[in-house]
Amino acid sequence: MEKLILGSMDNYTDLPFRLLCQKYGANITITEMTNAIAIFRENEKTLKKIYMPKQEKKGYIQIMGMKNNDFYKGIKKIVELIDTGKNNSKGIDINFGCPSERICSNGTGSFLLKYPKIIKNIIMQTTKICPYPISCKLRLGYSKKGEIFDIIKNLNDTELESSILHGRTKIQNFSGNADWEIMKDARDKAKFTIYGNGDLTSIEQAQKKFKEGWKGVSIARAVRGNPSIFEGKKSTKKQFLEYFELAKKFNYLDLKKLKLHSICFEKNKQKKVDLSKAKTIEELIFRFSD
Ligand SMILES: Cc1cc2nc3c(=O)[nH]c(=O)nc-3n(C[C@H](O)[C@H](O)[C@H](O)COP(=O)(O)O)c2cc1C
Repeated sequence: MEKLILGSMDNYTDLPFRLLCQKYGANITITEMTNAIAIFRENEKTLKKIYMPKQEKKGYIQIMGMKNNDFYKGIKKIVELIDTGKNNSKGIDINFGCPSERICSNGTGSFLLKYPKIIKNIIMQTTKICPYPISCKLRLGYSKKGEIFDIIKNLNDTELESSILHGRTKIQNFSGNADWEIMKDARDKAKFTIYGNGDLTSIEQAQKKFKEGWKGVSIARAVRGNPSIFEGKKSTKKQFLEYFELAKKFNYLDLKKLKLHSICFEKNKQKKVDLSKAKTIEELIFRFSD
């Protein structure tokens, strides 16, 4: 059965939103990108960011890939959380795809696409200490699309379970279109499963990809304010109130995130502006329901 994956999105794929997407058909969910070193240091906010209750059935914790010994201490901490039943994560997803300058200047995210051997080494070290499935997020390359082939060649020597491949380079950021042709060539050369990612906006497009041999696809931007995309239906405004209930239930009420999500569910431009000006959660919910 092909997989519909909720793509990781900083500020959006928080626990209540992941549970909402799972309810409407996402088969795999991924946390926002987190820093393994902050996990190792048991930073409270970071531990909350990666928390997965038993209700989250097939979730992965995403951490930024980096060449640093404390990174592996973070992995060990995640393994301990899973082993002791404190986190229901099914595995770890390592990010080598984030193009943001803030992330890349720290030698993490898509900066490492320049160094396939380092990526290979990080995955090898991680699989040695983590008995749970390891996946990673990739782009087609740092500056040239073909760079992905050397990365795949290196990763074929590891125990990597799967990867989500976004069909752009780091330099492209979000410009141009995702190149599904090169992604397909890369997929066919990999010994591990590659899920495709980039520019999908409907279930019909996802199903077309399945017919073209993809074992799964990841959808990100089009899911914001639209969790029903996974079941091929139109989302309703009411689903934001479901998000709100889940946030209450799991103690994830946060004005900034509630605003971001509510603005995605609201289609009226003026109302979006009104929502952005709410000063309290009560005011936000009142304005949203008005
Ligand atoms: C606001 C935003 C935040 C993102 N944050 C992450 C992240 O934390 N980790 C990650 O792997 N990808 C992140 N991405 C990239 C998406 O997962 C995805 O690869 C990209 O948006 C292309 O897929 P799409 O066309 O379906 O949106 C982010 C994208 C957006 C728009």
